[in-house]
Amino acid sequence: MAVVNQKGGVGKTTTAVNLSTALAQKGKKVLLIDLDPQGNATTGVGLEKNSVSNSYDLFFEKVQESKTFVENLHCIPSSKDLAGIAIELASDPVKNYKLKQSINYPEYDYIIMDSPPTLGLISLNILNACNGIIIPMQCEFYSLEGIAQLMETISSVRENWNKDIKIDGILMTMFDRRNMLSKDVLNEVTMFFKDLVFETKIPRNVKLAEAPSFGKPGVIYSPLSPGAKAYDDLAEEFLSKEKLNQ
Ligand SMILES: Nc1ncnc2c1ncn2[C@@H]1O[C@H](COP(=O)(O)OP(=O)(O)O)[C@@H](O)[C@H]1O
Ligand SMILES: [Mg+2]
Repeated sequence: MAVVNQKGGVGKTTTAVNLSTALAQKGKKVLLIDLDPQGNATTGVGLEKNSVSNSYDLFFEKVQESKTFVENLHCIPSSKDLAGIAIELASDPVKNYKLKQSINYPEYDYIIMDSPPTLGLISLNILNACNGIIIPMQCEFYSLEGIAQLMETISSVRENWNKDIKIDGILMTMFDRRNMLSKDVLNEVTMFFKDLVFETKIPRNVKLAEAPSFGKPGVIYSPLSPGAKAYDDLAEEFLSKEKLNQ
C-alpha cells in the first residue's frame, strides 16, 4: 500500500506512521517503508535515519527490516542517499521496477510505503510495487491542484506496468468541521471522487504534530486525542472496506 500525493505537507507521513501503528495495535503484522529521503516516517516511529539496511538499499536487494518499539510494527528506515537514486539508476533498463523486485515480505499483513513530495523515479517505483493507494488531501483551497497530474500518472502506471493498482481511498486531513472552507473542499473532493473518499476525516490536531518530536506515532503519544482517535477509526474503516472487497 502506498501513501502518495506529490504535494508536500498534506499529511502523507502522519498518515503512513499512524495508520501503520493503528493496524499493528489491532494485531496486524505491518511493515512501514520510508521512501522519502527526508526520513520523517523513520524518526516518527523512533528509529534512526541512514542506518544500515535502509530503503536506499531496497532499490538493489531485499533488506533486513528493523524492529520498532511498537509490537507488530517493523520498519525499513530512510536514507539520505535516496535523494540521488534517479541519477544513479538513469541508465538501468528496469529502473522503474527496482522496488517491486526486492519487496518480498510475505510474512506481513500490510506493507505501507511513505512517499516523497514528487512524482519522480522513487514515486514511480512505489506505484509499480503497490496494490493500493491512499491519497491524503489537506482541506485547503488548492488541494485539488496537482490531483489531475497524479491521476494521469496512476492511469499510465495502470496501463503500462501495474494493471492491478487501485485507489483504496482519498483521506481528508487537517479537517475542521466548523470551517466553511473545509466543508467546501470536502464537497468538491466528494463530487470528484465519490465513494472513494474515506468516511473518516482527520481533524487538525496539535497532538499529531507534536508526537514526532518525541519519536512516537500520535496514536501512542496521545491515544485519547481527537487526531489519534481519527487514525484508529481510519484503520477500522480500512479493514472493513477491505473485508467488503474480498
Ligand atoms: N491532522 C493534523 N493536525 C495537525 N498537524 C498535522 C496533521 N497532519 C499533519 N500535521 C503536521 O503537518 C505537517 C505536514 O504533515 P506531514 O505528514 O509531514 O505531510 P507530508 O508527509 O505530506 O509532507 C507536519 O508538521 C505534521 O506534523
Ligand atoms: Mg512526508
